[in-house]
Amino acid sequence: MPTIRVSSSSGPYSVHCGPAALRRFAPLIGRLGEPTGTFVLSSPTVWRHWGRALAKIIPGANRPILFDDSESAKRLATVEGIARDLVRAGADRRATIVAVGGGVVGDVAGFTAAVYLRGVCLIHIPTTVVAQVDSAIGGKTGVDLPEGKNLVGAFYPPRLVIADPAFLHTLPHRQFRSGLYEVIKYGVIADRGLFDYLERHRDAIVRRDPAALARIIPRSIEIKARVVGADERESGLRQILNFGHTLGHALETATHYRHFLHGEAIGWGTIFATLLAVAQRKLGDRDALRILGLVSGMGRLPAIGKIGVTALEPILRSDKKARGGRIHWVLPRRIGKTEWGLEVPWPVVARTFELLPIIARRFTFTD
Ligand SMILES: NC(=O)c1ccc[n+]([C@@H]2O[C@H](COP(=O)([O-])OP(=O)(O)OC[C@H]3O[C@@H](n4cnc5c(N)ncnc54)[C@H](O)[C@@H]3O)[C@@H](O)[C@H]2O)c1
Ligand SMILES: [Zn+2]
Repeated sequence: MPTIRVSSSSGPYSVHCGPAALRRFAPLIGRLGEPTGTFVLSSPTVWRHWGRALAKIIPGANRPILFDDSESAKRLATVEGIARDLVRAGADRRATIVAVGGGVVGDVAGFTAAVYLRGVCLIHIPTTVVAQVDSAIGGKTGVDLPEGKNLVGAFYPPRLVIADPAFLHTLPHRQFRSGLYEVIKYGVIADRGLFDYLERHRDAIVRRDPAALARIIPRSIEIKARVVGADERESGLRQILNFGHTLGHALETATHYRHFLHGEAIGWGTIFATLLAVAQRKLGDRDALRILGLVSGMGRLPAIGKIGVTALEPILRSDKKARGGRIHWVLPRRIGKTEWGLEVPWPVVARTFELLPIIARRFTFTD
């Protein structure tokens, strides 16, 4: 079973991924030292599916602290509630927090672990595609403010991550598929071999074939681990992970996070960045068509509908990653190689956005 090492400013940690990774929980946590208690943080939804199985494996899982994992509950009040529960449950400085869930659980539990008693041991057990290939790796934790997403947070790397693809079988179909756009991202930015595999085994992946998952999940984690290991604080290389996210985030903001799942917005962002790269003569037509073909092959995306480029412009210019209103794009040079920090003249951006519905109809991205 693959074990991937991630280096971080607070020391290296390993990600155990692959089938049956979860069964190794006891020996793996044993290696971290003797905790005074293990406190499982999860959500009612995740627990309904997995609570009984986990209670047999994780000490303390028979009295989990459960909190709402909708995006609207990813806020400081939830952190306060959990911290108070931890005090009442007797968690001290040598306690271990085990976060079991998707990205929301991981971000909230991770931030709680960072600030509770000024920091306690954190283990991630991610249960969605997004959480396994993205949010559980790299140490970003945090919560939203009414003014915007992830505005309060901390870098707080875990001591251990256990990513077992078995969890993905209970995910609703739309959630599962949405995570695949993040996997496509890794292929485009860093690994032509992964991209080829996604193309060739698309149907097996979409039906969650265990062998296909056992290939794409660890490979995606490896890429994320390599990137964040080289640039934890996002001063350079880590920006490539933002591929597809510049437009994706703007679409999510413009629709108040109600219309698209995150991965679906990234699906649109991937199409857009591909067209923009062609318009800027960075990417050849052949690779562009392959990227568009793979995104469309994963299924339909919710339509962009009436969102206009005029409404998007201020959102794009005030993106966290923009500098002084200048938008920095991440664009592919070819499949497997990407450049970041690129500026594109606004008229080109606007024209490319107007092309989206036409291209979408051609590739049947939407209904
Ligand atoms: N920290 C980071 O680096 C980072 C990276 C990417 C995303 N994020 C954050 O992650 C969040 C999105 O995470 P997500 O896409 O995992 O969604 P999510 O955490 O919202 O989970 C999606 C839904 O699936 C349910 N669920 C989770 N696991 C399940 C399972 N195994 N079976 C059945 N249902 C299950 C959840 O209860 C929830 O209803 C966002 O808040 C985003 O900001 C953080
Ligand atoms: Zn993402």
